[in-house]
Amino acid sequence: MTLSSFVHSHPDKQVVLVQGLGFVGSVMSLVVANAVNGNYAVIGVDRDTEAGRRTVDSLNAGIFPIVANDPKIADYFDAVMKRGNFYATVDTAAYSWADIIIVDINFDVDKTNNEQYALSGYTVNLRPFEDAIITIGAHCKPDALVLIETTVPPGTCRSVVVPLLKTTLEARGLPSDKIRIGHSYERVMPGPDYIDSIQNFYRVYSGVDEASADAVEAFLKSVIRTDEFPLTRLGNTDATEIAKVLENSYRAMNIAFMVEWSRMAEEAGVDLYEVVRAIRRRPTHSNMMFPGIGVGGYCLTKDPLLASWARGNLLGGGGKLEQSEAAVSINDQMPRYAFEFLWRRYACTLVGKKLLLLGVSYRGDVGDTRFSPVEPFYRCLLHAGVRVSAHDPYVSSWPETGIQPFADLSEALQTHPDIAVVSTGHRLYRREETTDLLFSCEPMWIYDTIGLLSAAQINKLRQKHTVIVLGRGDL
Ligand SMILES: NC(=O)c1ccc[n+]([C@@H]2O[C@H](COP(=O)([O-])OP(=O)(O)OC[C@H]3O[C@@H](n4cnc5c(N)ncnc54)[C@H](O)[C@@H]3O)[C@@H](O)[C@H]2O)c1
Repeated sequence: MTLSSFVHSHPDKQVVLVQGLGFVGSVMSLVVANAVNGNYAVIGVDRDTEAGRRTVDSLNAGIFPIVANDPKIADYFDAVMKRGNFYATVDTAAYSWADIIIVDINFDVDKTNNEQYALSGYTVNLRPFEDAIITIGAHCKPDALVLIETTVPPGTCRSVVVPLLKTTLEARGLPSDKIRIGHSYERVMPGPDYIDSIQNFYRVYSGVDEASADAVEAFLKSVIRTDEFPLTRLGNTDATEIAKVLENSYRAMNIAFMVEWSRMAEEAGVDLYEVVRAIRRRPTHSNMMFPGIGVGGYCLTKDPLLASWARGNLLGGGGKLEQSEAAVSINDQMPRYAFEFLWRRYACTLVGKKLLLLGVSYRGDVGDTRFSPVEPFYRCLLHAGVRVSAHDPYVSSWPETGIQPFADLSEALQTHPDIAVVSTGHRLYRREETTDLLFSCEPMWIYDTIGLLSAAQINKLRQKHTVIVLGRGDL
């Protein structure tokens, strides 16, 4: 099917285009194509690169490119395939058909870390995002709604998107006062609630003017269950952009705060999990974090830096967000702490030991390895002369390290590891059959870096193995 035959086969539908078919855009496309109150023809557009073409071909061939254990993804994708209201392409002509354009592309921060993994600098490059907006302006209808969902440095819609779209429209000889531009950030949670975290969840939105905000509201009401999860409208796009990066900076700082406490608890021989659980009973402290191997994923590792950069570069303020930057730096060092904990406990004799990582993705039950804390942990192990292999049911190839994780746990355990490290919270590792498999191995060390193992699992495994848990000074 061609792009124009796709559009012409849906004459009665509004066309929604999703720019960027990654972890957010591909699933957002499914949500829009299965809108709760709308009837849209959806076009997904990615870059004309090898990776972009692969994603597009896969989607058009009926193979959803993202692995996650949310059964709704398969259901929604099947429904879309049957209905035929989704088409993927790398052809920028697609923008000319769209009534609504949702921007779900990446906006990266280039970080530099010193040898100890402390943050030593970073750069923010607006150019790729500007290019994406120029592409939209070069093709879009003059009265389209452009909805920015990408996490951007605060100030971007007002000082980058608006002028770029208006000048590109004017350069085409088109009016520039009809375009509507809004912002509504994603709170998507890849994993078992992938779809629900978009469709059945609260949203914050804004527009660059009243008409834009109204258009965003009408669209969101058609794709999200806003009757159960009411929308929150903020006064302008700076406010919603700040809301997104503040949300994630708060989370990053919350995690960073616990790092020195987990070290203190270990020194004191105290089980910090028990302490935190006791404190969490206070409603005001219910989101206190537990110790862990580190912060991963695409968002918490960069969003505080986008905020800090924006303060000086787009919002006209002075200085950086010192505490938020410090949080990123502390979190970046967590995998090294996790390694040092093992190194101290194992009495410094790790050279030549065989170690099996149980999980390499940044989060349980997802296949996303971007900025996984397991990667710097792995690099510390390599540096110490450890022979590392990995198991992960969601990751068949770990591009950041070149390792091909085992998909099957019993096969992975046939490597006879000296140490098995629980490094990602996949639900599989909580299951009884996993405990039985681990129990059946020759005596080894089991190191839980995320507090995944239950007391019952630990008690059983300790009958045969040495079990240590990061942040549990009592073990
Ligand atoms: N992944 C998450 O859990 C999550 C959660 C909330 C918000 N976000 C935010 O959502 C945005 C997207 O994140 P993601 O995880 O989907 O990133 P991603 O890297 O998985 O996907 C981005 C996609 O956009 C494509 N792209 C880039 N430039 C393009 C262009 N000019 N035209 C067409 N396609 C283009 C890329 O090829 C890629 O496929 C980011 O700003 C991120 O911070 C992500």
